[in-house]
Amino acid sequence: MNVIQLTIDGKKVVVSEGTTLLEAAKSIGVTIPSLCYMKLDDLNFENRPGSCRICVVEVEGRRNLAPACCTPCADGMVVQTHNLRVIQARRTVLELILSNHPFDCLICAKSGKCDLQALAQQLGIRQIHYSGEKSHYKCDASPAILRDMDKCILCRRCVTACNEVQTVGVLSPVYRGFHSVVAPAFEMDLDHSNCTYCGQCVAVCPTGALTEQDNTWMVLDALVAPGKTVVVQTAPAVRAALGEEFGLPPGTLVTGKMVAALRQLGFKYVFDTDFAADLTIMEEGTELLDRLKRHLEGDATVKLPILTSCCPGWVKFFEHQFPELIDIPSTAKSPQQMFGAVAKNYFAKQLGIDRKDLVVVSVMPCLAKKYECSRPEFSTDGDPDVNISISTRELAQLIRHANIDFNMLADEEFDHPLGESTGAGVIFGTTGGVIEAAVRTAYEVFTGQPLPRVDFDVLRGMEGIRCATIDFAGTPIHIGIAHGLGHARRLLEEIKAGVSSYHAIEIMACPGGCIGGGGQPYHHGNVEVLKKRAAALYREDANKCIRKSHENPYVMALYQQFLGKPCGELSHQLLHTHYFDRKGSSLVE
Ligand code: FES
Repeated sequence: MNVIQLTIDGKKVVVSEGTTLLEAAKSIGVTIPSLCYMKLDDLNFENRPGSCRICVVEVEGRRNLAPACCTPCADGMVVQTHNLRVIQARRTVLELILSNHPFDCLICAKSGKCDLQALAQQLGIRQIHYSGEKSHYKCDASPAILRDMDKCILCRRCVTACNEVQTVGVLSPVYRGFHSVVAPAFEMDLDHSNCTYCGQCVAVCPTGALTEQDNTWMVLDALVAPGKTVVVQTAPAVRAALGEEFGLPPGTLVTGKMVAALRQLGFKYVFDTDFAADLTIMEEGTELLDRLKRHLEGDATVKLPILTSCCPGWVKFFEHQFPELIDIPSTAKSPQQMFGAVAKNYFAKQLGIDRKDLVVVSVMPCLAKKYECSRPEFSTDGDPDVNISISTRELAQLIRHANIDFNMLADEEFDHPLGESTGAGVIFGTTGGVIEAAVRTAYEVFTGQPLPRVDFDVLRGMEGIRCATIDFAGTPIHIGIAHGLGHARRLLEEIKAGVSSYHAIEIMACPGGCIGGGGQPYHHGNVEVLKKRAAALYREDANKCIRKSHENPYVMALYQQFLGKPCGELSHQLLHTHYFDRKGSSLVE
C-alpha cells in the first residue's frame, strides 16, 4: 500500500493511501469535530455521507473547504483544521442546522447527552442568526422506540445502523429538500414496519430524534400502588455499564451498588435475570442435546443447527425476514420472559398472593425487551409475565430522580431464591456468552465427564461471525456465533441454502451482544467500550464459585419442587414459546 506524506496544522503526518483527513488528524492527536460521521472499528462499518459539513478543514490550494471525514489524504497536502475561516464555517453550518431544530433542549430526553448540544457548547454558539420555516413531523411512539423527527439532523447514522449494520431495511430518507425525513417506507409507524426494536438506531442517534420509550414513571407508579408487591430482575449486561452513567470508566462492575440502589428505590425483592439465564441453559441445552443425539443416531427429520432464542430483536428479525426457518430456533423463551413466568406462576404462590398483585419490572440493556413484554403470548388473562421493562439508562434516571449517591453505595447481595446465578448466567450478556454457557452444561451432560477447563476462549471475541469446533469427547460439535443482524443474515442464508455445517448457532441482534444493546449508556459504536464491558462480565464469571448452570442449587431446587424436569410438561408450558410468520404483516417486504 502506498504511503502518503502531508502536513496537518504544521505537523508532518505519514499515512497509508485511502486514509481520510479526519483519521490522519486523529493519528497526531488532533480531533476534528464531526456529526454525521460514525465508525464502528472492529465491525468494519462507517457512516461518512459528508452531509453535515461540521468537519470542514482548509486545504492549501483549494477554493472550498473540504469535509475531513470523506476527503482522502494526498501527497504534499497542507491542511489547517482550526484557523479562523474554518471555525467560522463550522459555526455557520451549526447555526443553520440549529435554525431548523426545536429549542426544547431543557426537556429533551437526550439533554446532556446530545452531540448537537455538545457541539454548540464547544463552538460557543450563543445566538442563531438564521430563522425560517421549521419542519414539523408527527411523533411515532412504538412500544420500544420514540421517533421525533423534528429533532433529526439528517446525519443518516440511523440509516447506516438499520440498513448496513443490521440489514433490517426499515429506516431510509424519504422526500427531498426541506421535506426530507428519515422514516419507514410510506412514513408508516415503526409498529407497522419490520422494525426489530433492536435500538441500534437509538444507540447511534446524535440528537433526541430517536430515543427509548420512557417507562420510568410506570415504575414509580407501581412502587407506590397499594396492595402491589414489586420485584425487579436485572439483566447481566446492565451491571457492566450502569456505572458509566455515574462517571465510572467503562468496564466497571457495579453489581452490588446496583442491587443497593434498587432496594433504596423501593423494590421489595431484587432478583437477577442471570438466574433465568441458568434456567435457559437447562431448557435450551436439553433441546440441543436431544436434537444432537437424534441427529447422531441418523434421524433425518432433525432440524440442525439449533439457533439460540434469547434475543427478542433477533426473534422478530427472523419472524419477518426468514419465516421459512421458524422451526429451527430453540423454543426456549428469553431469560427475561422465563423469569417473568417463574415469578408470576411460582414466586407469587410462594408469597401467597395473586399473580396480578405481583408487579415484575425488568432492567434490560435492550429496547426490544420492552416490545417483548407486550407480545400477547407472554400474558395470562391480560396480565403480562413481565409488567414493565426499563433500560439501563432509565434505571440511571430513576437513581438520579431519587437523589441516590450511587458511587457511595455499599455493595449489597441479590435476594433469594431468584437472585442466585452462576458464572454461566453472567456471560449471557456478551457475544459468545450464551453458547459458552450452553457448552459448559451440554459437554458434561453429553459426555458424563467433568470439563477439563471451564473457559472456552475460542468462543470469545468481537469478530462479527465466529466459528469453533468443540470436542465432546470424540464427537466434534460445530458452533457458529453471530452478533449484529447483518452477520446473522449471512449465517441464515447459509442455512437456507442447505450449506450450513453448524450444530448450534448463537445469535444476538446487537453488535457486541447485550453489552452493546440499544438501552445501554451511549457508546456510539465505540468497540473499545464494548470490549471493556465484556471483560467485566468475564471477570464476574471467573469470580463466581459456581460457573455451570446445571450446578445452580436454586435452579435445581426449582425443578425438584415445581417444574419437574427440563423440557418436561410444566417447563414446556411455562418456559417455551412459539414463533409467528410475520412476512405478510408489513408493507415493507
Ligand atoms: Fe464530516 Fe458530517 S462529519 S460531513
